[in-house]
Amino acid sequence: MLFKNLSLVTSDGIKKCDILVKNGKIAGIGKFSGNGIDFKGRTAIPSVIDMHVHCRDFEQSYKETVETATKAAISKGITGIVDMPNTVPPVNNREVFEERKKLFKEKSYCDYGINFSVTEDLKFFDGYKFIKIFLTETTGKLLFKGDLDRLFSYRKPIAIHSDIAGMKKCVKLSMKYGTKLHICHVSKKEEIKFLKKYKTHNITVEVTPHHLLLPEGAENVKPDLGTEEDRKALWRELGRTVDVIGSDHAPHTIEEKKKGAYGIPGIETFLPLCLDLAFRKKISFETLALLISENPSRIVSERKGFGIGKDADFTVVEDKEWIVDSRKFYSKSKFSPFDGMRLRGRIKTVILRGEIIYDGEKVKKIESREM
Ligand code: NCD
Ligand code: ZN
Repeated sequence: MLFKNLSLVTSDGIKKCDILVKNGKIAGIGKFSGNGIDFKGRTAIPSVIDMHVHCRDFEQSYKETVETATKAAISKGITGIVDMPNTVPPVNNREVFEERKKLFKEKSYCDYGINFSVTEDLKFFDGYKFIKIFLTETTGKLLFKGDLDRLFSYRKPIAIHSDIAGMKKCVKLSMKYGTKLHICHVSKKEEIKFLKKYKTHNITVEVTPHHLLLPEGAENVKPDLGTEEDRKALWRELGRTVDVIGSDHAPHTIEEKKKGAYGIPGIETFLPLCLDLAFRKKISFETLALLISENPSRIVSERKGFGIGKDADFTVVEDKEWIVDSRKFYSKSKFSPFDGMRLRGRIKTVILRGEIIYDGEKVKKIESREM
């Protein structure tokens, strides 16, 4: 299969080229003769991954399901997601983890990683690729009560939801053992200041679009939205101390939101907001490639990313304006602080492992794979 005339967004510039695909993998990058699909020079981003998605499902299927969240992801150009474990029941034992795996295998529209939450000490890590620990209370009761030092000593990659005190402890332990550490939704300038100084190559840092864009108090989210100073610190470090943008898609019903639930749906505004920033030159396409494609791909899966032998995942976009309308979301959570916003960058075609699974109108289900 041949995809012709793409302007591929990478961290070292935009490459105008064709992509040759064999068995769902990138087999060639360059100029190729022969028939193929002509993308007429449109912008394409390889392997867009959202590392922070609460798909809910199980007893909270009324809020969101794996099916609706991942369909929403594909419709807005995300080809891989990492699911969060604060479900009901929580993904903190082998039985629920296996159930979750089965659910994703059957229902997911995109490729996926499943987080396992360690709440106490755990001796066996086989099969749990993504481990998330909560060092502060949030939606769900998953506070880590085990021995942090021992957990880090296993040297398995760990993602944390934490305040600055917990983060400092984890950074120290990551240094002590050489354990990979991913810090979720960093939002305050103090955190950035600390990380700028102590971050190592084993540590990755994530921010959300809402912490970059929304003013203090505008939404009820965890961590809470920062001040202008906080936002400035996050912006300054994009592509430097900050490695990843993740949506923290946290769906709730409108009734629950009225009662004070923390979190907002973000999966369907994640890439659109990022593209808008790039098309309006508030961030370079090169930096964007790092934040939503290359870094998350490197963190989550050897199969993902851009290069020969990698999965042929591409999101083709058009520089056209459209208006956010949450009533049209695939997500069950039909509200958004970005409703009514005019954004530049429409998702035109989504390709997963060489197959077109979104054509600008319909999302198609193919076999999904664990990343
Ligand atoms: C998340 C949720 O609702 O699950 N809420 C939020 O405000 N971000 C929890 C989380 O990300 O920790
Ligand atoms: Zn979250």
